[in-house]
Amino acid sequence: MPAFVIAIDGPAASGKGTLAPRLAAHFNFAHLDTGRLYRAAAFLVLQKGGNPADPAIAEAAARRIDPILLDDPRLLREEVAQASSVVAAIPAVRTALLAFQRDFAAHPPGSAGGAVLDGRDIGTTVCPDAAVKLFVTASLEARAKRRLRELRESGATAIYRDVLQDMMERDARDSERRVAPLAAAPDAVTIDTTRLDADQVFELASGLIARALAAHGH
Ligand code: CDP
Repeated sequence: MPAFVIAIDGPAASGKGTLAPRLAAHFNFAHLDTGRLYRAAAFLVLQKGGNPADPAIAEAAARRIDPILLDDPRLLREEVAQASSVVAAIPAVRTALLAFQRDFAAHPPGSAGGAVLDGRDIGTTVCPDAAVKLFVTASLEARAKRRLRELRESGATAIYRDVLQDMMERDARDSERRVAPLAAAPDAVTIDTTRLDADQVFELASGLIARALAAHGH
């Protein structure tokens, strides 16, 4: 039986990062946060003092990502987040990262019968045949407040106005780029998390997935 794939897309700090690993643990599926790939590519460029907007440098970085780097806490820094959306707009970078993501979905590591991938273009481009597609979103203000809390909890000093500004810039870059922009697939179910807590989002999503699993004979 082919792997059961759950595609979760949405803008920054919309709740995907909380929802995706929780769903994976609940259904015993493997999880890939695809944003980490773009962050890793950006990190490697910045580490060498390179320009994230330079297509050749960014593509070379995307091609030398060691999977161990994906768990590095330095990827969570705000300057890496900004640079990640710059490298993510370069078509050659997206192409370089596509095979890894598709392979993960088709052959989830371990003995998992399925995979949860979260990002911006999973339901539209990476896994257009995913069994379940969710588009997780929230108002800009709610997302900026969540990111501010996350940054402060991680020990960073951050102010709301800057976080809001950074998020608007990244939203614009992600939505307006020509290749695989942030978008809900036509067959995705949208979950607006502005007024929902993490448990409510999980209940909604897991109920939907449980029904899809039953319909697919799992
Ligand atoms: O965690 P957060 O939502 O802030 O961002 P992320 O998921 O770690 O993604 C970082 C950046 O990578 C995004 O702003 C996108 O530019 C890019 N990205 C993408 O283009 N396609 C994906 N499938 C995932 C991330």
